[in-house]
Amino acid sequence: MSDADIASWPAAPRGIAFGGDYNPEQWDERVWLDDVRLMGEAGVGLVSVGIFSWALLEPAPGRFEFGWLDRVLDLLHRHGVSVDLATPTAAPPAWLYEAHRDAWVVDADGRRLGPGSRGAMCPSSPAYRDAAVAIAGALAQRYAEHPAVVMWHVHNEYGAPVSQCHCEHSQQAFRAWLRARFGDVDALNAAWGTAFWGQTYASLEQVRTPAAAATMLNPSQRLDYARFSDAELRECFVLERDVLHAAARRLPVTTNFMATSSPGTDYWQWAREVDLVSNDHYLTAERDDAHVMLAMDADLTRSLAGGRPWLLMEHSTSAVNWQPRNLAKRAGEMARNTLSHVARGADGALFFQWRASRRGAEKFHSAMVPHAGTDTRVWREVAELGADLERLAEVAGSRTRAEVAVLWDWESNWAAASGWHPSVDLDQRERTEAFYSQLWRDGVSCDFVHPGDDLAGYRLVIAPQTYLLSAQSAKNLDDYVRSGGQLVVSYFSGVVDEHDAVHPEGLSGPLGATLGLRVEEFAPLRETQQVRLTGALGELSGDVWAEHVVLDGAEVLAHFADGPATGGPAVTRQRHEAGTAWYVATRLGACGIEALLAAVYAEAGVVTAPPAGGLEVVRRDAAEASYVFALNHGEEEQELLVHGTELLSGAAVAGRLSVPAGSVRVVRTDPHPSRR
Ligand code: GLA
Repeated sequence: MSDADIASWPAAPRGIAFGGDYNPEQWDERVWLDDVRLMGEAGVGLVSVGIFSWALLEPAPGRFEFGWLDRVLDLLHRHGVSVDLATPTAAPPAWLYEAHRDAWVVDADGRRLGPGSRGAMCPSSPAYRDAAVAIAGALAQRYAEHPAVVMWHVHNEYGAPVSQCHCEHSQQAFRAWLRARFGDVDALNAAWGTAFWGQTYASLEQVRTPAAAATMLNPSQRLDYARFSDAELRECFVLERDVLHAAARRLPVTTNFMATSSPGTDYWQWAREVDLVSNDHYLTAERDDAHVMLAMDADLTRSLAGGRPWLLMEHSTSAVNWQPRNLAKRAGEMARNTLSHVARGADGALFFQWRASRRGAEKFHSAMVPHAGTDTRVWREVAELGADLERLAEVAGSRTRAEVAVLWDWESNWAAASGWHPSVDLDQRERTEAFYSQLWRDGVSCDFVHPGDDLAGYRLVIAPQTYLLSAQSAKNLDDYVRSGGQLVVSYFSGVVDEHDAVHPEGLSGPLGATLGLRVEEFAPLRETQQVRLTGALGELSGDVWAEHVVLDGAEVLAHFADGPATGGPAVTRQRHEAGTAWYVATRLGACGIEALLAAVYAEAGVVTAPPAGGLEVVRRDAAEASYVFALNHGEEEQELLVHGTELLSGAAVAGRLSVPAGSVRVVRTDPHPSRR
């Protein structure tokens, strides 16, 4: 689908879409009338319908009952509410489980996961695939031309709750996938290093999925199995998508991602398959920095969308019900969350779900219409938010731009989780969050990129811990530096290739020449051990990790003052003719990352704008105007210097804008001279 098509999604409503998952099948039809009346009151213009309705839409194989859905869609249409119509394939009906026990997911311990929940049938099983395509096709045929329907929502959160299967269909499919990847067993043996521990296969027929075994499984096999499992899920999506695309009226097709929280899906690949990126995000409520993690998730989602506007498919009005302690959102927090997503490129914000369920596993999950009804804080805030989003309609289509990029690679995550590593404290996600959080505290917008992506537009690229790095991606990073980029690489990066084999160049891998050094030996620290660092960046400390670094051109910015690598380099800088590569050989705390990035920004020409008193400022740009989002996460009123029109109030702003504690202001200003 072209940019122009996407820019016009959904056909209606225009502006910032607002709504949620609507599950009318849980309610008596009389409640539906109340629903549409309330949707009108709250300004809801888009709802996702039918996500878990397979058992009702097809109560027996091939017998479809669309009457209730016809009535729902007609009713919504009469009330001006557009529909993101789902294929219900994340909730296979009881008859499918009954008829096809072979399609039940088998987990790594050999347990068969049966019905009674949702979302778990083997993605490689022909029976599941056929049934999924059939129901998608039936929906496409019946509803593609329904005037309420503006887009398709395939499945739900592919990969959740399980993304891997070890049944016999999966065994066969895995072998077929391996045959396509390696051609023959010799190539597989070489790539997987099966000479180690006597794992050599005589034929591809002997290969099985990496299920329960006596001790550590072959890490390369596990990595390929993760790739295979993801590819199988994606194939299921593509099968359904193609059926929907073939319908009489071609509508955009999406499936809801979980950008930072899905372990099993490589969304860089998924993003190429969807017409529109959509995403679900839930706060980890007990984290004090939950709003920063939200920003990270939204930045990753925008990056997956290639910078184009995306849709927040789900978030919550208040508490979820699946965390250990489900904290309710405080007054104003929901709107702040929603507008944080919009500030980072979302052109729509939907919730799970419209009306709180009285029964079932999620009855204590918040909703737009809470159990306590409409005389409630949540409802009033929902209705206010709907009105606010209408006032922001002109923001739709504008872009959020960044000059800094952080590497994000699901394959590297899989490899990092696939074997015994030098320390259990190695944690790619933790390092990514740590660097991202410092960017956030410095008020520096960032994109996420795959290590093989074109990096030319960025002043600075950060590799927080990219354990797996192909030689090709390493060359990409090297080219970036040599053509003037600033690259920051943290320890345990570039260690293995795409087969999880240590690079022939040794532990610093193919980045050695870029960094101007060689890593001779890892020297992980004890659980609570700290090491002191001294040098140009000041007195700092590290933990978790140290290593013996041998310089090959780089200058030392900090030395280890104690610990196993005493006297050796801890932070280095290699200046090339045009660009610079920085290396960090220990786990810096927040102060260390702050000091390091301050030095890097100075060389990269990155301008900071720290969120004073918790006032986060994010900008979206359009040709005719810029939109400055001021989000006050703090406890006190803050002031921002800006000129323009505040869109939520319509008031002119001549220099000083007050942003009360916990609230958001959005100012239309003159277009920003883009620096990219
Ligand atoms: C996910 C699912 C929804 C619902 C919510 C609850 O995002 O897609 O169906 O279960 O979680 O938070």
